[in-house]
Amino acid sequence: MQFAGSHILSISQFERADVEQLFTVADAMRPYAHRERITRVLNGAILGSMFFEPSTRTRISFGSAFNLLGGEVRETTGFEHSAIAKGESLYDTARVLSGYSDIIVMRHPDDGSVSEFAAASRVPVINGGDGANEHPSQALLDLYTIRSELAGRQRALDGLRIAMVGDLRFGRTVHSLSKLLSLFQGLRISLVSPEALSMPEAVVETLREAGHEVLETDVLETGIADVDIVYSTRIQEERFASPEEADLYRGRFRLNQSVYTANCEPNTVIMHPLPRDSREGARELDIDLNDNPNLAIFRQSDNGVLVRMALFVLILDVADQVDQHSVPVNWYTERRF
Ligand code: NCD
Repeated sequence: MQFAGSHILSISQFERADVEQLFTVADAMRPYAHRERITRVLNGAILGSMFFEPSTRTRISFGSAFNLLGGEVRETTGFEHSAIAKGESLYDTARVLSGYSDIIVMRHPDDGSVSEFAAASRVPVINGGDGANEHPSQALLDLYTIRSELAGRQRALDGLRIAMVGDLRFGRTVHSLSKLLSLFQGLRISLVSPEALSMPEAVVETLREAGHEVLETDVLETGIADVDIVYSTRIQEERFASPEEADLYRGRFRLNQSVYTANCEPNTVIMHPLPRDSREGARELDIDLNDNPNLAIFRQSDNGVLVRMALFVLILDVADQVDQHSVPVNWYTERRF
């Protein structure tokens, strides 16, 4: 694909070479994300950030990534604060907002809404999550994390063994991640969910067509044995007809230290797109795993900044100018990464 000027709406746009190019640029963003140097390569550029669903990581890391490149961020969050609450269409909103921004990131509760918005936008649009459909930048940062966690374990992306656990029906991150994994070879993917929340058939088909072995189970213990990565997810309660329906599944699969020790290989990496649901009745990823060195969830969220910086510089076509516009930082930056 050509990054310059493109919308990022779905992982289906990516080929393996694109992913490799993106990751090379993400690696080069490390000194900036780690505050060793600052760059002003996007000086004067404006990111329009529009989040019509709750978001912490995605919204702030996209904003931080843009700021770290020297750009400014204008935001609107929630329908109640936007003219959409007055009946404005996505088309009109896109025409207007794209006049105020150089690039837009958008999250919206409806499947396909970000593509509809992008079709009317005059500037590139990145999908920050559209309903239960896709979350491409999350899948990219997830794969970037998998790659860096495996590097220390003498394992490669080809031949990866991964378990995805939880709400695979409504979880957009696992939909996008599965599409991304289908670009690699010889994977064994175990899908652990209650039957009612199983991975959509079309996504399973994509994995099988790519030649991967796909196992579906509703038993956590079997699903997480013999894997390199356990990728846990939250029950997506906001997509259910009622909170009572979500209650049927919340807390069904709980990974804690004793379940991990009893079933996982000693080096299995634990991931989660976050937020994990830490309320009593849920706890899909228990806090007693916090001291487990294989818990990669905060390395994963840190990586979001690198990958989102890489997306911005590639889409705005300044990847080769980042270092030119850089200087060392002059404030106290001690921080543990
Ligand atoms: C995810 C999302 O919004 O899809 N969060 C995120 O962006 N990291 C996962 C979730 O909400 O469960």
